[in-house]
Amino acid sequence: MTRAVALSAYGGPEVLGVIDVESPVPGAGQVVVDVRAAGVNPVDCKIRAGWFAADGDVFPQRLGNEFAGVVTAVAPDVDGVLVGQEVLGFTAPQAYAERIAVPAGAVVAKPAALGWAAAGSLSAAGQTAATGVRDLGVGPGETLLVHGAAGGDGGLAVQLGRLAGATVIGTASRGNHDHLADLGAVPVEYGPGLLDRVRALAPAGVDAVLDLVGGDAVLVSLDLVADRARIGTTVDDAAVAEHGIRRVRGARSAALLARLAGLAAAGQVRHVVSKTFPLTEATAAHREVETGHTRGKAVLLVD
Ligand SMILES: NC(=O)c1ccc[n+]([C@@H]2O[C@H](COP(=O)([O-])OP(=O)(O)OC[C@H]3O[C@@H](n4cnc5c(N)ncnc54)[C@H](OP(=O)(O)O)[C@@H]3O)[C@@H](O)[C@H]2O)c1
Repeated sequence: MTRAVALSAYGGPEVLGVIDVESPVPGAGQVVVDVRAAGVNPVDCKIRAGWFAADGDVFPQRLGNEFAGVVTAVAPDVDGVLVGQEVLGFTAPQAYAERIAVPAGAVVAKPAALGWAAAGSLSAAGQTAATGVRDLGVGPGETLLVHGAAGGDGGLAVQLGRLAGATVIGTASRGNHDHLADLGAVPVEYGPGLLDRVRALAPAGVDAVLDLVGGDAVLVSLDLVADRARIGTTVDDAAVAEHGIRRVRGARSAALLARLAGLAAAGQVRHVVSKTFPLTEATAAHREVETGHTRGKAVLLVD
């Protein structure tokens, strides 16, 4: 047997608990990974709270879509992944666990320079940020506005926007402004008056917006960017329907994850992990993420 975190019903963070599960063996095309770190994402909290509940859902239900760890078994038909190899990857919900089986194509080699916590929390935020910057067509000499720049996705979007050659303006509360400046963004406070503050910072205008917050952030964006295809949101489906802006979803691929891991290992992007919790304290980790004010990522660590 091995241990995993699961929810016993939809509800608050207290529905999370540690359960014993069968130790997985690799099915065809799979590898088994002993997890060292698993990122905690807002979507995990939304799943736990029942946002996506459907008839016939069964419990206990596993959580966690990203991880880093050590490969401990490899199916006979898998080439290119070795027992003992350190990897990071993505998965259908199950990564809050000591041991998981995943398709070999969903893991990439972990660069030695990338720590466990950073590696285990890179996939969701990194692939979403990279997809957003790519789909918005951000290029040299342009100005990108990122709403929610101090969070997991936002910090990486800022840096990927900079690597694409853009000036990046990022929204955050005042306490995160030095942090945003360190990441390469021009910080601006969100809330009433945001439109005027952004216009003061970018008199020539903003070319694209990546929204990670929704609501008023989208409304402000509509006044800043004429081309609705260059406003993307990860959160505000109502605004997508009403205003014809772009829905940004993290397209996952091993190739993109490997590129991001390389950038992080080389120090070209800094993947910020501000909070770590033991696997057994997933409840506390969810409470942290649900504050909505985590800087960078919160991560579960397996000792
Ligand atoms: N559909 C998809 O594929 C997809 C993928 C990834 C993420 N998402 C969604 O995108 C959202 C962002 O994800 P995330 O992982 O980056 O979240 P996160 O890390 O939890 O974001 C936390 C950050 O949000 C900032 N923040 C809070 N309220 C703000 C506001 N009104 N304006 C600007 N910043 C604000 C906080 O900064 P301060 O402390 O300075 O306020 C904090 O640093 C989530 O809702 C997530 O579910 C969707």
